[in-house]
Amino acid sequence: MLLSGRIPKHIGIIMDGNGRWAELRGLPRIEGHRRGAERAKEVIEAAAEIGIKALTLYAFSIENWQRPSSEVMTLMKLLEFYLKKELSELMAKDMVFKTIGEIWRLPEDIQNLIRDAEEKTALNKGVTLIIALSYGGRNEILRAVKKILSSDVRPEELTEESFDSFLDTAGLPAPDLIIRTSGEMRISNFLLWQGAYSELYFTDTLWPDFTKDELLIAIRDYQMRERRFGAIVTRSDAP
Ligand code: FPP
Repeated sequence: MLLSGRIPKHIGIIMDGNGRWAELRGLPRIEGHRRGAERAKEVIEAAAEIGIKALTLYAFSIENWQRPSSEVMTLMKLLEFYLKKELSELMAKDMVFKTIGEIWRLPEDIQNLIRDAEEKTALNKGVTLIIALSYGGRNEILRAVKKILSSDVRPEELTEESFDSFLDTAGLPAPDLIIRTSGEMRISNFLLWQGAYSELYFTDTLWPDFTKDELLIAIRDYQMRERRFGAIVTRSDAP
């Protein structure tokens, strides 16, 4: 049975291929993003059903600011629409909502919606949904270093664990599995520190076509891998 094995605690997804999906159909790129957002909703619901504890979706990279302003604006509008529409759903599903990235660069009304959703869902007990927005892994690491330099942490006190607590993802488990759609085999500045030992899964499927079944296939693939973290396989990690 598909999900009888190890279930990844934390899955990260690079949702790629919205533009190509639309172009292949002669549609404007934003149609790909619209359909992609619907897929994101489906995958979030599936994650809760499967028993995944944390799901990080790469929705807007720090490099995405360089796209034409019309595309950036429509992506922001889409985000605003979902933040308004889905808060009640997040509450009903007992989900915790978090964001990572340079949130202060987003339009102010979106920042307010994010703050509101983060506050209202903070004490929920279900899946933690993390949306990476204006996010870049190098940028996150650099910001963590700057926070450390202006803190009273002494160099000899700094460990990998304490470094974790200065990242945007503080308190979250590292991703066990990172999925990237659309056939590109790159990590593209996503969870660089946290993904050091993540299993990687690449599929040619474009994000707007990534269904719950595709997620189950990715998890099945993950379940067949042996995770050694550079050591020998331990009994507790064995499938
Ligand atoms: C990559 O496709 C996708 C994005 C840059 C945006 C992802 C955004 C969404 C799925 C919608 C918003 C999400 C939420 C959670 C409301 P691309 O445009 O790079 O595709 P391409 O490589 O084919 O051009």
